[in-house]
Amino acid sequence: MNSIVSKISGTGHYVPSHVVTNEELCKRVDTTDEWIRERTGIKERRIGDPKQDFPSYMATQAAKMALEEAKLSPNEIDFILFSVTIPDFLFPNTASLIQENLGMTHQCPSLDINAACSGYVYGMVVADALIKTGAYKNILLIGSELTSRFNNWEDRSSCILFGDGAGATIISRTEGNPKEVGILKHILGSDPTKKDALILRAGGSRIPITKEILDNKENFVTMDGQSVFKAAVKTLASQCEFVLRESNTTHDQVDWFIPHQANLRIIEAVGDRFKFPKEKVIINVDQYANTSSASIPIAISEAVKDKRIKRGQLLLLATFGAGLTSGALAIRY
Ligand SMILES: CC(C)(COP(=O)(O)OP(=O)(O)OC[C@H]1O[C@@H](n2cnc3c(N)ncnc32)[C@H](O)[C@@H]1OP(=O)(O)O)[C@@H](O)C(=O)NCCC(=O)NCCS
Repeated sequence: MNSIVSKISGTGHYVPSHVVTNEELCKRVDTTDEWIRERTGIKERRIGDPKQDFPSYMATQAAKMALEEAKLSPNEIDFILFSVTIPDFLFPNTASLIQENLGMTHQCPSLDINAACSGYVYGMVVADALIKTGAYKNILLIGSELTSRFNNWEDRSSCILFGDGAGATIISRTEGNPKEVGILKHILGSDPTKKDALILRAGGSRIPITKEILDNKENFVTMDGQSVFKAAVKTLASQCEFVLRESNTTHDQVDWFIPHQANLRIIEAVGDRFKFPKEKVIINVDQYANTSSASIPIAISEAVKDKRIKRGQLLLLATFGAGLTSGALAIRY
């Protein structure tokens, strides 16, 4: 029986023009191109212009591309959901800055969500729920991250991992059989017992910035890489398994596996488990590194533009991030 379901009606992305290769990072920290490639699969990343590439700016560029693809004007968007880890300002929220940048002249609810790298998948589930209330028709969902701002450029184990960029998706209302179209199944999770494995402690209400904090570089990300790595492989695998099982989908019915792009070894470990051939796994971590919640929507947008992703195909998205948040969903494109 038909009911309200969500569809992806537009996709867009933006990455800063400045490319930073592994060789260039070797001038800043004690590392090698070979080490970074072998341990992460990353070859280069984009680093935003600090005078221009704020999360709101990058998000706006990605949103404009998505609007054009969906053939919608900004005033036809009736909700902005914006995923960001470090926003432009602590407040007002960044979604409202994007609303202004897009020149929207109508009252449009604008909401930031922070689930770190998992924010886009969380956002898609929230957008789907909003669509299903019947109150909204076109939701602009964006992940945009200036990770270079929270990187400790003296910590070789973390600064090599991240890159800047934005990806946008428009989620629109349509009708169909919910077992066949839209989001077929999702799962979201969070494991706060591992919150210390990936954290930026200072700069919020609990630990305000002081000279001592700055001197100790506590205003940057700290990470226990191995702990995050192990949790990521385990969680991604079990959540993908859940989504496939609960949507009565076999592995070979999935057209594209689009995981969060944190580390090629994590992606390969999960892909191998489900026997997804490499050609069915969308990868951009080599070019852009880990762009946090922008990684999946950038990957989707690029694959739509180059026609790898086609209407009717089944996409399996899976993510994890600080929190440790996580999520997976199957959506018919
Ligand atoms: C960070 C990560 C790449 C490190 O790889 P690893 O294989 O676990 O490496 P280890 O942490 O065990 O470190 C091994 C050695 O390499 C060194 N090392 C760390 N970073 C290095 C670098 N950039 N270049 C060279 N050596 C480095 C370490 O100091 C350590 O040396 P030691 O044995 O002398 O102490 C990996 O753990 C990872 O990707 N984790 C997940 C991180 C992530 O995805 N975070 C974002 C989540 S959204």
